[in-house]
Amino acid sequence: MKGKFITIEGCEGVGKSTQLRLLKEYCENNGIDALFTREPGGCEVSEKIRNVILDPENGDMTDMTELLLYCAARAQHTERVIKPALESGRTVFCDRYCDSTAAYQGYARGIDIDVVNALNRAAMCGVSIDWTILMDVPPDKGFARKGGAQESDRLERETLAFHKKVYEGFTEIAKADRARFLCFRAEGTKYETHEAIVQALKEKGVFQ
Ligand code: TMP
Repeated sequence: MKGKFITIEGCEGVGKSTQLRLLKEYCENNGIDALFTREPGGCEVSEKIRNVILDPENGDMTDMTELLLYCAARAQHTERVIKPALESGRTVFCDRYCDSTAAYQGYARGIDIDVVNALNRAAMCGVSIDWTILMDVPPDKGFARKGGAQESDRLERETLAFHKKVYEGFTEIAKADRARFLCFRAEGTKYETHEAIVQALKEKGVFQ
């Protein structure tokens, strides 16, 4: 692939969206042709699947159905949006990708990680991730930042214990693949974290 593929991962409310917004502004201000997209979603079919997955009324959804829906959304998004962008040389930033599936459906829901990895591989349609930015913030802090859960979706409504398992999952996944992960504890201001991310992406040759 000619373009670089960067994913951003982490628990709920850890500042991913803010960092993606700042990265988008950085790319616009520096003439970098980058695509910003998200999972689940990122194209028409996958956004429809997102609505099904996250709908709080779908409380009866089984863990395997949930896993397959995330992977179905990913296959469509990858083939229709991510792959063409990478082939044309664009840098792609994706808000969540396969590591979320491993952390949420594998580590937290408890689905066999080999099954999750096999489905992830199929859903990636031959694309590989160059770098993953992990917002390494424990869920209790993220929950506090996010505030009221009144409007929350089906996954956000899970218990703190569930989100702690997600965090442990991300920690394990990052430990097992140190070469791909760029971890940020986000202890300073959002601008300090942004600077650190930009610096890391410069060191990796994503930005000049
Ligand atoms: P978002 O809130 O970051 O847009 O993500 C939607 C929710 O979906 C969030 O709770 C994380 C969850 N998720 C998974 O459980 N598995 C996945 O594969 C992805 C991409 C997201």
